[in-house]
Amino acid sequence: MIKPKVLLTRAVFPDVIARLAGYVEVETNQDDIVFSEQELLQKMQGKQGVITPSSARFSAGLIAQLPELKAICAMTVGYDNIDVAACEARGVVVTNAPDVLNQTTADFAWALLLSTARRVTESGQWLRDGQWKKWQIDGFLGADVHGKTLGILGMGRIGQAIARRSMGFDMQVIYHNRSRLTEQEEAYANHAVYVDKEQLLAQADHLILMVPYSAATRHCIGAAELAMMKPGATLINVARGGVVDDAALIAALRNRQIAAAGLDVFENEPQLNPDFLSLSNVVLTPHIASASESTRRAMLQCAVDNLIAVLRGEAALNPVHS
Ligand code: DGY
Repeated sequence: MIKPKVLLTRAVFPDVIARLAGYVEVETNQDDIVFSEQELLQKMQGKQGVITPSSARFSAGLIAQLPELKAICAMTVGYDNIDVAACEARGVVVTNAPDVLNQTTADFAWALLLSTARRVTESGQWLRDGQWKKWQIDGFLGADVHGKTLGILGMGRIGQAIARRSMGFDMQVIYHNRSRLTEQEEAYANHAVYVDKEQLLAQADHLILMVPYSAATRHCIGAAELAMMKPGATLINVARGGVVDDAALIAALRNRQIAAAGLDVFENEPQLNPDFLSLSNVVLTPHIASASESTRRAMLQCAVDNLIAVLRGEAALNPVHS
């Protein structure tokens, strides 16, 4: 029997290749080259399926040139790199990897929040630079987290997992979302209170962004929104680059309009705005919120299961729609 051909756009854990090879003919990329759109077009010729993280862009123009394609399986929960409407129009199934990363990403949002509010990386760098000569009463004063108001913009399953963790810090949780959660969901999320976006911005001591990227959420935190935040506030983004207007955020951090930011995602990453690097009140990490080995394996496994299901003619486990 002729096996369907699939492309892995990026390097994966090697044992996954062996599993896939039982079902499909795999073209791997274990050198982990980030393909240009032209290279991707060439690599995708004759392929019925593809497994990819968000680094590969599947535009309508690219999809139109791949007549044999049946499935694009994202190994991430976000799929803003894929033109889902163009896929639907062509009958190409698109899947993502939801839920398996919720808890790990929520853990990381807290890691960023705590290190940003309590100036962990900034003070650690100062120590490494040999500047620690004496204890000082006002050395690296940060913002308290316990007892404060935690704001969450985007209260899906990851947002709820983040909110739940705030119970141990005796925080009040407020949130804004496209739709209000059920009473049961709000109770799970540390009795989170639904507010409008303006109230969220004005009342949060620490604001965590968890909205997916789309045309509607692009720059949903820009100069106007930053101006509405408390002067001592902390902003954390573990969602997607582009949700925040990075130039506006740099200006707000430089002018101390807000106290600090913790960022795992950036516009045009990995080529982030170099001005971030000169700011001491920002914690920067390279899009690693879901990066624990078990979670990354689970994300990949989810994409593999979806791909095999679709190529066998079965229903996708995690289809997404435009
Ligand atoms: C996702 O799943 O969309 C994450 O950003 C990848 O870590």
